[in-house]
Amino acid sequence: MTDDLLRDSDSDAAESSIERSLRPHSLKQYIGQVALKTRLSVYIEAAKQREEALDHVLLYGPPGLGKTTLAIVIANEMAVNIRTTSGPAIEKSGDLLALLNELAPGDVLFIDEIHRLPKPVEEMLYSAMEDFYVDIVVGEGPSAHPVHFPLPPFTLIGATTRAGMLSQPLRDRFGIVEHMSYYTVDELAEIVERSSKIFNMQIDQYGALELARRSRGTPRIANRLLRRVRDFAMVKQEAVIDDRMVDYALNLLKVDEMGLDQVDHKILMMMINHYHGGPVGVQTIAANIGEEVDTVESMYEPYLLQIGFIQRTPRGRMVTASAYRHLQIPFEGEETKR
Ligand SMILES: Nc1ncnc2c1ncn2[C@@H]1O[C@H](COP(=O)(O)OP(=O)(O)OP(=O)(O)O)[C@@H](O)[C@H]1O
Ligand SMILES: [Mg+2]
Repeated sequence: MTDDLLRDSDSDAAESSIERSLRPHSLKQYIGQVALKTRLSVYIEAAKQREEALDHVLLYGPPGLGKTTLAIVIANEMAVNIRTTSGPAIEKSGDLLALLNELAPGDVLFIDEIHRLPKPVEEMLYSAMEDFYVDIVVGEGPSAHPVHFPLPPFTLIGATTRAGMLSQPLRDRFGIVEHMSYYTVDELAEIVERSSKIFNMQIDQYGALELARRSRGTPRIANRLLRRVRDFAMVKQEAVIDDRMVDYALNLLKVDEMGLDQVDHKILMMMINHYHGGPVGVQTIAANIGEEVDTVESMYEPYLLQIGFIQRTPRGRMVTASAYRHLQIPFEGEETKR
């Protein structure tokens, strides 16, 4: 039931329109990621003073941390248009050319899941990014001839949950490469309070903090949990959501005190019960819980690593003593000191 809390549901029109309504529009409204924001505001200011397009930006990090939101914020701050697409949606070089052709000078082209660009498209992007032109072959057979196609200066913003899957040549063409990190509890509480105002609902500071603690460092999850808690509060006829209400609702949603959901529990319990806590290869973990390796590596593992519930070792993943403690299972192994 809660499995979808982590998933990107952009395909769900209602959900994505709610997400849009919650999106901050300026760097000022964008909560958290303080160091990143400071750097970006300098780059933006400098580009504006020079009247140039902002350097290409690569944003990477776990899903739901605000990469798409930040791309839109950057375009707003630069006062330019943004065209949004994704790696798998650009099937042929012609599709890319069509997108590039529509850009005005300084515009942002946002490519989500940029690690999934087809190779020929990626190669076409190299010259587009570096020198603002593409060379294409027009016509077929004997009449085929190359055409040099100049482009306006533009900013490519790429987003990926898997920076490691990006080729080196592509990576090298981004002047600004930024990692998005998990949000602190205080930052998430601020996001929850902001969203609750937009939803026109009341949550007190203890409620906001409890929700923040259980949102695994991720704004998207905080916003989703907030909406579900709101439903429980309505049915219970509570006008103001407090920490008790949050706790009650999240327990029913099977989101534990650390924000772990049923899939996280499944992963940890499987590693403990079948492999004595590891080491277990990520392929084995994925196969055991019926998920793709990519899903485990991009969605579940980063948070478990972040809170120190699993450890990466050369031989595979291991469950740590603190995870055993959290699950209230006696820990017999010796904690690997690395
Ligand atoms: N810094 C922030 N301040 C306030 N709200 C935020 C912030 N970052 C993200 N959000 C909210 O979280 C939701 C998810 O953000 P977004 O879609 O930008 O994430 P993402 O990193 O692009 O995720 P994915 O990798 O799945 O595409 C949005 O509804 C947005 O409003
Ligand atoms: Mg996104």
